[in-house]
Amino acid sequence: LASTDVDLAPVQVGQSITVTWRGKPVFIRHRTAEEIKSAADVNVGELRDPQTDASRAKKPEWLVVVGICTHLGCIPLGQKNSDPRGEYGGWFCPCHGSVYDTSGRIRKGPAPRNLEVPSYAFKTDTSIRIG
Ligand code: FES
Repeated sequence: LASTDVDLAPVQVGQSITVTWRGKPVFIRHRTAEEIKSAADVNVGELRDPQTDASRAKKPEWLVVVGICTHLGCIPLGQKNSDPRGEYGGWFCPCHGSVYDTSGRIRKGPAPRNLEVPSYAFKTDTSIRIG
């Protein structure tokens, strides 16, 4: 019940979309090569919530995360290309200044955990089912 199918084909490199899954916003980003590299090049041991990028993104080109700050539940900015993304290039939560990287991992500010990765699977190369 309550799974959401998403066609990724129209989403260009460097673009993000927001879909709704179980009433929550889910951010899907078609990451650029630079974003993938910066997500992979992190020393995981230095992270507050240590997770490798490979454990979060089933395909490096696509990041799928629940768009709810793990501090107090605001919706981080970074979906529009004109949005501030913070110094790690991912998302910035305007409520209390949490900064997420291009893997959606918390890097600065009060949030305790990385943006949640929902359960999802690729149905084809360019479509996923969330939930
Ligand atoms: Fe995002 Fe507080 S809710 S930093």
